[in-house]
Amino acid sequence: MKIEIKNITKIYPRGKKKALNGVNIEIGQGIFGLIGRNGAGKTTLMRIIATIMDATEGEIYFDGKELKANKDEFRSSLGYLPQSTKLMPRMNIVEFLDYVCILKGIKDKKERKERITNAIETVGLVGEEKKRLKAYSGGMLRRAGIAQALIGDPKVLIIDEPTTGLDPEERLYFLNLLSKIAMERTIIFSTHITADIEHLCNNICVLEQGEVKYLGEKANFIERVAGKMFEHTGTKEEEETLRREATVTSVAYIDGSPCVRYVAEKPFTEKSISVTPTLEDAYIYALGGVKR
Ligand SMILES: Nc1ncnc2c1ncn2[C@@H]1O[C@H](COP(=O)(O)OP(=O)(O)OP(=O)(O)O)[C@@H](O)[C@H]1O
Ligand SMILES: [Mg+2]
Repeated sequence: MKIEIKNITKIYPRGKKKALNGVNIEIGQGIFGLIGRNGAGKTTLMRIIATIMDATEGEIYFDGKELKANKDEFRSSLGYLPQSTKLMPRMNIVEFLDYVCILKGIKDKKERKERITNAIETVGLVGEEKKRLKAYSGGMLRRAGIAQALIGDPKVLIIDEPTTGLDPEERLYFLNLLSKIAMERTIIFSTHITADIEHLCNNICVLEQGEVKYLGEKANFIERVAGKMFEHTGTKEEEETLRREATVTSVAYIDGSPCVRYVAEKPFTEKSISVTPTLEDAYIYALGGVKR
């Protein structure tokens, strides 16, 4: 499915500034990565696409159809996993998914059972059916959330910051799960960690204070700092100079000496070495450099 976001602005009733300001994004099949730091507007945008909230201005189209005028049709092909969900703590996964099926209007008992079995298999929760959800770990809950979102076999999946709080192993499992279910679907995935989108998405959008800072292919995003990326290990004074005169993307202190990665037209001194940019470098550069 193709989703076109046109000129979306959102001002919350009691909001001080625009949560989204004239956002234009086109999203096609595959996994689309929405990246931005806290308060960038990721959740706001996802809630608007998921038809949970209206935009103040602008329109969204899916396969050429206006979203608000065709809400029911869009919702029937949508799976949504909110940033914070309290699933039913006293239910087990089967009871919970059965409940979700009923909400979705799936009346046939045999069909519900089939869908539930499939979803549990897909997310790797076989053997965990008897536990109540309140006894699930963070990673298992996130998988249960995906099972819930998948139950209607949606063409579009919106997943808001699913990796927050997961341990490295669970995080990798979860990211692999996403790439497994991405086939023939449009997945919009938000995160504030570049490593999440490193291997998962080709197309990304960097959102900052409600505005699109970058939209396009990940490879082109990194390319923007190619040839301008340097590393300098030196003194604290040199670090200060670099912070003033270049855009610093990271500082690591090795035995007390700052090792500064920075973007500049040319190296600061002959002590600086040219390095290959990472997605993280490109991202921090797009946000204007590291904060103190
Ligand atoms: N209900 C609300 N009322 C007023 N302002 C809000 C409301 N929800 C969010 N905002 C503001 O809108 C902006 C965008 O918030 P949003 O939650 O969309 O960001 P986010 O990118 O999802 O952040 P996070 O990474 O912390 O989840 C922020 O400045 C936030 O304070
Ligand atoms: Mg959010």
